[in-house]
Amino acid sequence: MNYKEALEGPVFQIVARASGELSLESYVIGGFVRDLLLGRRIPKDIDIVSVGSGISLAKKVASLSPGQPEVTVFRNFGTAMLKIGEAEVEFVGARKESYNRDSRNPVVEDGTLEDDQNRRDFTINALALSLNDHNFGDLLDPFGGLEDLDKKILRTPLDPGVTYSDDPLRMLRAIRFATQLGFSIESNSLSAITENKSRIKIVSKERIVDELNKILMSDTPSTGFALLHKTGLLPLILPELVALQGIEEVEGQRHKDNFWHTLEVVDNIAAKTDDLWLRWAALLHDIGKAPTKRYDKKLGWTFHTHEFVGAKMVYKLFKRLRLPLNEKMKFVQKMVLMSSRPIVLSEDFVTDSAVRRLIFDAGEHVEDLMTLCEADITTKNPRKKKRYLNNFKKVRDKIEEVEERDHIRNFQPPVSGEEIMETFGLSPSKEVGLIKDAIKEAILDGEIPNEYTAARDFMMKKARELGIES
Ligand code: CTP
Repeated sequence: MNYKEALEGPVFQIVARASGELSLESYVIGGFVRDLLLGRRIPKDIDIVSVGSGISLAKKVASLSPGQPEVTVFRNFGTAMLKIGEAEVEFVGARKESYNRDSRNPVVEDGTLEDDQNRRDFTINALALSLNDHNFGDLLDPFGGLEDLDKKILRTPLDPGVTYSDDPLRMLRAIRFATQLGFSIESNSLSAITENKSRIKIVSKERIVDELNKILMSDTPSTGFALLHKTGLLPLILPELVALQGIEEVEGQRHKDNFWHTLEVVDNIAAKTDDLWLRWAALLHDIGKAPTKRYDKKLGWTFHTHEFVGAKMVYKLFKRLRLPLNEKMKFVQKMVLMSSRPIVLSEDFVTDSAVRRLIFDAGEHVEDLMTLCEADITTKNPRKKKRYLNNFKKVRDKIEEVEERDHIRNFQPPVSGEEIMETFGLSPSKEVGLIKDAIKEAILDGEIPNEYTAARDFMMKKARELGIES
């Protein structure tokens, strides 16, 4: 099969010319070819493999490219990278490899194109297109990658035990590709992942998180998490989630399986938002339920304070996985901490003051919180589902109404601490805080509107009560 038309872009023409001048063979390989044949969006990254030095080829390509882009050389890996227009092009010389058991760094020897294809992770990633004059655009597929693309199967070119043990990151890549592409992992491969799972410990946290993020950003993340669970990788990466699995029964009372529930919530939220951190929040919203689970004779199963415990667990989990400990983490914590608030609110008569407090606490993230809560509805009872959704609709409407009137979302106290101090000749003290807080509470309770004059009058009244004279 020939794919000449797909290689009309300038990058391939330049690489072909450079290869010709150096008398070496070169091929496009990996994700570009896979996604091209799948009809997916073509990636910006292009991987070129050459039979001969990839670094020399990269330098030659740079010298023939408009603007002579800079070449970044990674000597340790024998690779080089440069940018041509929007495309990041990576060059590597074809090689045979064997890996050291304790790290992902291979011992490398020069090899043929087929040696190189053989050492790649999956047959669908080993497909190569020729950039050589005599067969430009030909597909080189010694391991049946095209057939696997057709059958939607992830299969390793070598014995899967060798491929995964060589580079354990590939276990996560298999699961990630299965999730992104809707492929199944061939059964020997799946067994090999299960057998080699403990080798995940030599993979860096950053790489693990990269793959988790890609799974989370797919259309149905549950596919990936179910595979991580099935292969036994999940307890090694996210034990907090696994701890949610199972249903206990006491005195005929059962609670739901919070692991499988969580996966449904993540799929639900994936249909509503592309925000990675909101998806993380959905994944972690119930993690506090495992350590707080109790059975109470009167109340049945309870998970008292699970939101609070869960938010603390988010910090530890982010730290362990080297996820950012910045405002993204704080956002996830906030979502976990507040995840039950709209539910509690909607079960009751929805009062203005309860909504004002919700808006005040959630601030700019109140919409995200509602999205999370709606995704949290996984009941299979259509009547109940309709009722819950209706209740949330009421909360949303009320949020809009109250916000329009009271502007609580970015609450700034209408009377500042300085004004309180000046009016009563106070220095910074407990009294100033008391008055300021009382004004805020009065606004949230709806006792006074969120306006300067009303707040100033209230301040005078409160001060009198405290025996402070102006
Ligand atoms: N590869 C591999 N083993 C790995 C990583 C990569 O064999 N652990 C090979 C595969 O042939 C892969 C190519 O290197 O296709 C390029 O890798 P990368 O750019 O990481 O992934 P892509 O396959 O291009 O896919 P994506 O961009 O979606 O990650």
